[in-house]
Amino acid sequence: MPALLAENVTAGYGRTPIITDISLSCEVGTLTTIVGPNGAGKSTFAKTVVGILRASTGRIMVNDLDITRMPGHLIPRNGLVYVPQNDNVFKNLTVRENLEVGGFAATGDTVARMEEILTVFTDLAKAREKKAGFLSGGQQNLLAIARALMVKPTVIVLDEPTAGLSPAYTDVVWNQIEQIKATNTAVLVVEQNVERALKHADFVHIFVAGSNHVHGPASEIAALDLAAIFLGRAEANKS
Ligand SMILES: Nc1ncnc2c1ncn2[C@@H]1O[C@H](COP(=O)(O)OP(=O)(O)OP(=O)(O)O)[C@@H](O)[C@H]1O
Ligand SMILES: [Mg+2]
Repeated sequence: MPALLAENVTAGYGRTPIITDISLSCEVGTLTTIVGPNGAGKSTFAKTVVGILRASTGRIMVNDLDITRMPGHLIPRNGLVYVPQNDNVFKNLTVRENLEVGGFAATGDTVARMEEILTVFTDLAKAREKKAGFLSGGQQNLLAIARALMVKPTVIVLDEPTAGLSPAYTDVVWNQIEQIKATNTAVLVVEQNVERALKHADFVHIFVAGSNHVHGPASEIAALDLAAIFLGRAEANKS
């Protein structure tokens, strides 16, 4: 069983489905990206996987546990965490306090876990008593990721973790994300930048108009005519 398994998921905001019949799985120790044009349903899928939106059909499994109808607040303690693109830290709380909030659902020693995380997130370690609102945008994104890691998740879902960051800080954030996958975690990243997605991912899914249009190992996806797929042509490439 993969760490995360989404099967035939259909969901939306009202009656009309935005994403239809999407299946996707992630194994621990791998990095999977979802790319696709604006409005393709990438964020909608991420929100459905983590229980913010409800699937109208299909199921979502985490470590063999069916979480499809589980109350959202119980999902992190069952191993699945989510980092939204915006408003992902408490700006009036310090770095340390943000991490403590993240540890709320954790079962183990949260102080030890915080220290463990801060040895990896060195930028945050230097700023632990600083209010999150005074961090740079990139550091705030790192803090949001670090906070999600407090529960020692098996699966982490990140929605555009580097949107709006400088190329240099984008490297920093990706470097951290790659380190997460090395810690027995399945990493699923929604990424706007296709080059980045191909560079860092093991597996890539291309969503087009609410469907998981094409997917495969990054090397195979890199060989496709991506411009055509993004523009809704290339039916021949459909997997
Ligand atoms: N809260 C909402 N209520 C109703 N419709 C929404 C809502 N959020 C998104 N949508 C619609 O759902 C569709 C998919 O949006 P979604 O945000 O999932 O796309 P995306 O692939 O993440 O796009 P982007 O690359 O711009 O982030 C769009 O047509 C969007 O207008
Ligand atoms: Mg989005």
